[in-house]
Amino acid sequence: MPSSDVLILGSGAAGLSTAIKIAMERSDLSIMVLSKTAAEESNTKYAQGGIAAVWNLNVDDFSKHIADTLDAGDDLSNPKIVEIVVEEGPKRVQEIINWGTRFDLGHDSKEYDLAREGGHSEKRILHYKDLTGWEIQRALLEKTKEYPNIKIAEHYFAINLLTQHHLGYQVTRVTPNIECYGAYVLNKNTHQIETFTSKVTVVATGGAGQIYRNTTNPVIASGDGIAMMYRAKGRCANMEFVQFHPTALFNPAGENPDFLISEAVRGFGGILKTQDGNEFMYNYDERGSLAPRDIVARAIDHEMKTRGEDFVCLDCTHLDKERFKDHFPTIYGKCMSLGIDPFKDMIPVVPACHYFCGGIYTDEFGKTSLDKLYACGECTCTGLHGANRLASNSLLEALVFGHRIAEDVITKIDDIHLKSGIPEWDEEGTTQPKEMVLITQSWKELKEIMSSYVGIVRSNVRLRRAMRRLDILYRETESLYNTTKLSPQLCELRNLITIGYLVTRSAKMRSESRGLHFTTDYPDKKAFLEDTLM
Ligand code: FAD
Ligand code: SIN
Repeated sequence: MPSSDVLILGSGAAGLSTAIKIAMERSDLSIMVLSKTAAEESNTKYAQGGIAAVWNLNVDDFSKHIADTLDAGDDLSNPKIVEIVVEEGPKRVQEIINWGTRFDLGHDSKEYDLAREGGHSEKRILHYKDLTGWEIQRALLEKTKEYPNIKIAEHYFAINLLTQHHLGYQVTRVTPNIECYGAYVLNKNTHQIETFTSKVTVVATGGAGQIYRNTTNPVIASGDGIAMMYRAKGRCANMEFVQFHPTALFNPAGENPDFLISEAVRGFGGILKTQDGNEFMYNYDERGSLAPRDIVARAIDHEMKTRGEDFVCLDCTHLDKERFKDHFPTIYGKCMSLGIDPFKDMIPVVPACHYFCGGIYTDEFGKTSLDKLYACGECTCTGLHGANRLASNSLLEALVFGHRIAEDVITKIDDIHLKSGIPEWDEEGTTQPKEMVLITQSWKELKEIMSSYVGIVRSNVRLRRAMRRLDILYRETESLYNTTKLSPQLCELRNLITIGYLVTRSAKMRSESRGLHFTTDYPDKKAFLEDTLM
């Protein structure tokens, strides 16, 4: 039975920064980081645009970044959390620079080249070409090597959080003081399920974009942490606020994931147009192509539906070719590989699921509703994003909360003891899966249900229909789960169905339109505010 002082589920920006910050202060603590595939594979790695932070104090200040974040959040962000993240953000960014992260410099090669993205009133996005996430992931993984007390276990898939339930007690959503003792984990190399116990556990498992047909998220983004938390009877919140990025590359071949055309391209001067070349965003918002994402994605959805067209276009033909190629080498290369020359042709784009604003409910130290359990990064609902995330605020949130969790863990861990008596995983009565098609087909069905009925525009009828379909999938999958030996694919499907259920249920609970949640039955905002806590 592997045990550690700290067990961290996830090796993206959230998990690694938490591990590093704990290790920096406490070389005596054993820190186990699990990654369900290779350590570098994460949403973090694919981040393009950059990380937002108030940097150029000649023009920018905290109050502007705070106001932009609150404005995007459509009155549902927690102002205290927004202040914390914005004000602590520059320190955390400076730290990752000190740890070796490279950001592009401007023409003078002295100051960082700050970009602008939708909803930001100033240029404040630090970036490394269009590969910012790759660079941050690289630097963080490199930094972990300095700490012998951090162990990264690759291809270890966490299945369930351990609580009193596994000691034979009944645990319900109203049970007080539910504690977490670690996790059951599928070792993908041996196909055995191992019991990882820990004094504290940190869930940093990222998002869940894979519930939709079109998503910018890699296939690992199956909402495992949020689903585990829900099963452990912990609190999740605001799951209806699913962010669709306005500009994924139109992808008729059905590539998974969809390739992202960074918002920074619009910050650089790219303009959204209909296929016949008309700029349309000013019909929807005075900020035009740089309005916040919810507004742009809905506008594109509306244009596509009313025109009966499969995509709109991003016009970059007027932009400086050399600077564009230098700033966006990956985007340029991808377009050219498909025969799209961004300086001759408009780039065909569509909205795609991109980010979960809701998730595991935490306080300002990343503490969840379960004792000894923290959560960090995209799997959380910290209160920063409210009803809609401001571009490039998520990497920042991961770093700020990684630091805060470390501070809290360090002060508490000496009073916590490892739990003994957790039984080993029992797979008696299960058999090898016979037909993978049962899993792959259900996954396709889930994506269809969510994309057709719980997408950018919702209605009561669509949500009710989604619930009925999800219920069938849920029952079929539970039956498979109870009778077959576990595979990562089955666990992911099960988790994604839970996420689909949580998104749909939260959407049904919100009888108004706010931020990313738009329903034709209640097109206006309510005067009072509420989180959809579950
Ligand atoms: P991730 O980076 O996704 O890491 C999750 C980790 O958890 C992985 O290591 C995974 O293996 C592990 N894991 C998951 N499930 C399990 C399990 N069951 N057991 C064990 N391990 C598990 N944000 C910005 O701020 N700026 C941007 O420019 C930006 N661009 C983006 C571009 C794209 C294409 C995408 C997809 C996202 C972008 N985002 C951006 C969002 C941002 O990248 C993510 O929100 C952020 O990186 C999430 O970090 P994380 O550490 O929480 O999760
Ligand atoms: C992008 O580069 O457009 C993504 C930025 C983000 O999701 O924050």
